[in-house]
Amino acid sequence: MSNDLHKLTNEVGAPVADNEHSITAGPRGPVVMQDVWLMEKMAHFNREVIPERRMHAKGWGAYGKFSVTGDITKYTKAKVFKPGAVTETFTRFSTVAGERGAADCERDIRGVATKFYTEEGNWDLVGNNTPTFFIRDVHDFSDLNRAVKRDPRTGRRSAQNNWDFWTLLPETFHQRTIVMSDRGIPASFRNMHFFGEHTFSLYNEANERVWCKFHFITQQGIKNFSNEEAGKINADDREFHGKDLFDAIEKGDFPRWKVSIQVMTEEQAKNHYENPFDITKIWRHKEFPLIEVGELVLNRNPENYYAEVEQSAFTPAHVVPGIGFSPDKFLQGRLFAYGDAQRYRLGVNYNHIPVNRAKTEVNEYHRDGAMRTDGNYGRAPAYTPNSEGYWSAQPEVAEPPLPIEGAMWRFDPKDDPTEDNFKAGGDLWRLLAEDKKAILISNTAGDIESVSENVKYRHAAHCQLADPEYGERFAKAAGLDYAKVKELAKLDNNGLIKATT
Ligand code: HEM
Repeated sequence: MSNDLHKLTNEVGAPVADNEHSITAGPRGPVVMQDVWLMEKMAHFNREVIPERRMHAKGWGAYGKFSVTGDITKYTKAKVFKPGAVTETFTRFSTVAGERGAADCERDIRGVATKFYTEEGNWDLVGNNTPTFFIRDVHDFSDLNRAVKRDPRTGRRSAQNNWDFWTLLPETFHQRTIVMSDRGIPASFRNMHFFGEHTFSLYNEANERVWCKFHFITQQGIKNFSNEEAGKINADDREFHGKDLFDAIEKGDFPRWKVSIQVMTEEQAKNHYENPFDITKIWRHKEFPLIEVGELVLNRNPENYYAEVEQSAFTPAHVVPGIGFSPDKFLQGRLFAYGDAQRYRLGVNYNHIPVNRAKTEVNEYHRDGAMRTDGNYGRAPAYTPNSEGYWSAQPEVAEPPLPIEGAMWRFDPKDDPTEDNFKAGGDLWRLLAEDKKAILISNTAGDIESVSENVKYRHAAHCQLADPEYGERFAKAAGLDYAKVKELAKLDNNGLIKATT
């Protein structure tokens, strides 16, 4: 900062003589309009709050670097993955349901968005600390958030709404199990893995495509809080996770994640036993092992929370040559949602804000708009094509074409014969050690306690479908009749909904 911040000026640089005493008509008289500095201060203050993110409103961020240690050039030509490459990054961690002032240690999934300032433009990976998601159709996304956020009548969060919505969509089962498990409240952002969740694509110099998933494996080890521990922390320090991250970085204890990918060929995807583009499904590590690519280290705290963390803006739409999207219909919806939200939240020129600005040359030829603060491309032509050759597209970076088959229709995944919403949740249950099973059951029974009995039965039937032991233990903990749970689990989804509404 070149200014001498010790000297107060007004908004256009003129010295301010007095910042404490309003100008009044006489020592006991009213304030006069002529105190223009007072008016400026009041007017600016009134406009200082911008809309919070519609979800993921509470968050913390840090800069870092991504270093490539493996070689995946046979899969991708992205320069960010060139062996030895080091790329500057900015990562923001968040909770999902809580508003800007919410406490950090809530039971919730954690968002993790990383901006890679690559030499080919910004690549944003906007993921979560779970390898899967609740839902898979964009239509359900606003409903999910309305169900987990505030009830329209009471203005309070509602376990009833939450569980009612979740249990009416059986595909949420795996994620429900993860959120209710010990991983539902991480001890810190440093002590959790995170994932891109969706299926993305990679393509190499020869324009050959593979499908891929991104994994970030914590090097600090997994640590979680119990409900009791989290309750105490929230009562004491609502910003606990933000402080933990900031303090660790400030004292040079830089958190690290190993970055790996899973790869599925186009051929494997065609023959896979589940829809590989369904975000509620995972790719099993035994079948698609992790391939190590590099390391992400967070090593610098922001200087100003509002400028760098609050105004940061990430979108899955920002990819670079060598990294692409996939037919995942949920991902497709996100490609629109983020930029749209940010144009509203930060304004149309939000990519000019320093934390969002690419470190490479940006020539997108957008013009004008509120808060255009650069040279607006001066006298260069505003249209294309133009005879001067400005703004020429770069066809050499085009993605390989993707053959698509089938009718345009509103497909219901329930009609897909490969559909199984309970296998992954059941596998997870069987993987858990006894103490973790007990935690999952007790967290679920506690969380669902105030919810109506019909919804409890719906969840119990899903647990039963995942694993009879899971069903029986949850039924017992929630005070339900297990014989009835077993009968309900024999019904198809429509039958179960009918019997429990
Ligand atoms: C169709 C589904 C989804 C839609 C429409 C959607 C939409 C949004 C919107 C509008 C925001 C606020 C953006 C802003 O104001 O800057 C947001 C934030 C976020 N979303 Fe999603 N989202 C979807 C699914 C997901 C999924 C599946 C993940 C994880 C894989 C995810 C991770 C995040 C994260 C981490 C943030 C916070 C980003 C930040 O720190 O600024 N979202 N989402």
